[in-house]
Amino acid sequence: MKKIVILTGAGMSAESGISTFRGSDGLWEGHEVQEVASPEGFAKNPELVLEFYNQRRKNLLEAKPNEGHVALAELEANYEVKIITQNVDDLHERAGSKNVLHLHGELFKVRSSGPDKTSILWKEDLNYGDYCPDGFQLRPDIVWFGEMVPNIEKAISICGETDYFIIIGTSLAVYPAASLIDFIQPNTPKYIIDPNTPILRDNSYHIIKEGAVKGVKELLSILNKK
Ligand code: OAD
Repeated sequence: MKKIVILTGAGMSAESGISTFRGSDGLWEGHEVQEVASPEGFAKNPELVLEFYNQRRKNLLEAKPNEGHVALAELEANYEVKIITQNVDDLHERAGSKNVLHLHGELFKVRSSGPDKTSILWKEDLNYGDYCPDGFQLRPDIVWFGEMVPNIEKAISICGETDYFIIIGTSLAVYPAASLIDFIQPNTPKYIIDPNTPILRDNSYHIIKEGAVKGVKELLSILNKK
């Protein structure tokens, strides 16, 4: 089976009703990204940050995978598919994708704000005063700005051995995730699905200027002709 690696960002889930990070107002649900997605923001106002993620968790419980997620899961019938996602939602998994690597953590997991990085499954509200057995406040298991991205090495090695590389719904504005495109072997066919053109450093990409749902359908018809 040929291998396909797919790098997804917030645009993948936009048609499931989950808002992207860099909306037209530059804010994420009314907040500066640093305010709600950095260790400094959490130290300054933990209640606000926890409430922010409580809202995101509630939204995610109500959201459903869109046809784009489902079509990517169905690709597994004919290809060895690996998804690297910057998204903290579980919509790829719920659509049936078996091989999903989360770069920026997961909304339905929490962990200690101490040194222990063990993830705990968590689907309800997380409040100030909810402690881990180690005595530290629990926090969302999200990789915030300025924090290490533990899965980046794994992602780099996945990118180095693929027959097709596909990017869906990411502005490619956040590193190190955006640097993954540098690890694709030369001559690997590369596709981008996004209604806007993300930041690219060369013109070797086939650009499908559509939302994820329509764009994945178009991609499938291109792959089927190969
Ligand atoms: P962005 O919000 O930066 O970019 C979203 C991309 O999706 C843009 O290029 C949009 O044009 C595109 N888009 C919008 N609607 C779409 C649709 N229906 N179909 C396909 N694409 C669509 O989100 P990311 O690039 O994912 O990190 O952001 C990267 C990281 O920055 C996030 O993982 C998050 C954020 O801060 C953390 O939370 C640590």
